[in-house]
Amino acid sequence: MTVRIGFLGSGLIAGFHAHGLEAAGTDHRIAVVHDPDRDRCAAFAEHWSADAVDDEAAVLDACDAVYVCTWTSEHARLVDAACERGLAVFCEKPLAFDAAGAASMADAVARAGVVNQVGLVLRRSPAFFLLRELVADPAAGRVMSFSFRDDQYIPVQGMYDSTWRGDRTRAGAGTMLEHAIHDVDLLEHCLGPIASVSARSANFHGLDGIEDSVASVVELTGGGVGVHTTIWHDVIERPSLRRVEVFCERRHVVLDNDLFGPVRWTTAGEGDETVLEGGDLLAEARSRGFGGINPDRAFVDAVQAGGPATPSFADAVRAHQVVDAVYASAAAGGTPVTLGVGSQP
Ligand SMILES: NC(=O)c1ccc[n+]([C@@H]2O[C@H](COP(=O)([O-])OP(=O)(O)OC[C@H]3O[C@@H](n4cnc5c(N)ncnc54)[C@H](O)[C@@H]3O)[C@@H](O)[C@H]2O)c1
Repeated sequence: MTVRIGFLGSGLIAGFHAHGLEAAGTDHRIAVVHDPDRDRCAAFAEHWSADAVDDEAAVLDACDAVYVCTWTSEHARLVDAACERGLAVFCEKPLAFDAAGAASMADAVARAGVVNQVGLVLRRSPAFFLLRELVADPAAGRVMSFSFRDDQYIPVQGMYDSTWRGDRTRAGAGTMLEHAIHDVDLLEHCLGPIASVSARSANFHGLDGIEDSVASVVELTGGGVGVHTTIWHDVIERPSLRRVEVFCERRHVVLDNDLFGPVRWTTAGEGDETVLEGGDLLAEARSRGFGGINPDRAFVDAVQAGGPATPSFADAVRAHQVVDAVYASAAAGGTPVTLGVGSQP
């Protein structure tokens, strides 16, 4: 069956997924798109040979699977509409403004029995896959300490140029929810469950409700303690970057950048540091069972197979719970907030 794909939203991330679908080479067709920004919608439709339509219902009526690529405040309503029609749905992160909203969306897709996937796309990063492998290796010992930093110029400018990321009614909050939700998902995926967080936040840009610097002390249930920081600065020359450093009892691992490293590690008793990046890193990840980088291929494959897709809405709920805990702690001046153990794989 050729999967007919619909797009709600035709901005930056919609383009990313359309290119991902093109690269996937799966049996699908980008059939239809709607965006209230008519020029943007028309350009997307022309580029991908899709129909540009005037309302959301016309997208949902003409597709088998829909990508929800709008700003965050629209996600829940559009996912509900997709569920009513029994459509497979890919929704961008964050699902909602908070964990309660994300949980009700996860309930909605579960009740409707539809294939569902969330845009926590760094779960498919070969660099983070390798980090996870290196940390899980019994030779490494337990995680003792880590630092995880992400930074990006505040995306109300430059290539993002979005009005909504500076508007709490559409974005919900600032860098912790909008950007660092990836990080807390990866932290638990790679290092294990988080037991508690103690956070402080700041707002340098003065946008109401849009924090742009957050630092958290993070305690893992395995006993390790580390630090997470996320920053929206004004160094527009600098791309969005992540850097993670992990000290295990017998291994030191450093990851730079989101996808292809370098990842470097040193293990007690095993000699000099190993450094892998690019194609060599990908080959190493593949040799260890890495399942593929393209989230859109995974989604269409799941739709063809009747599911399940991963990461799912249910996976995202846990990341939202951690984000909520960070905000709650920061609002209380850094008081530690304890998390229940989630359903991390
Ligand atoms: N997974 C990732 O790494 C990643 C990266 C960037 C953005 N995102 C997420 O993707 C979403 C969109 O971000 P973006 O950067 O593409 O923003 P964007 O501003 O480039 O595009 C959003 C588009 O949605 C349209 N829109 C708003 N309401 C709509 C509706 N009801 N129906 C159809 N279209 C509607 C807007 O007109 C706009 O063109 C956000 O949730 C964001 O957090 C995820």
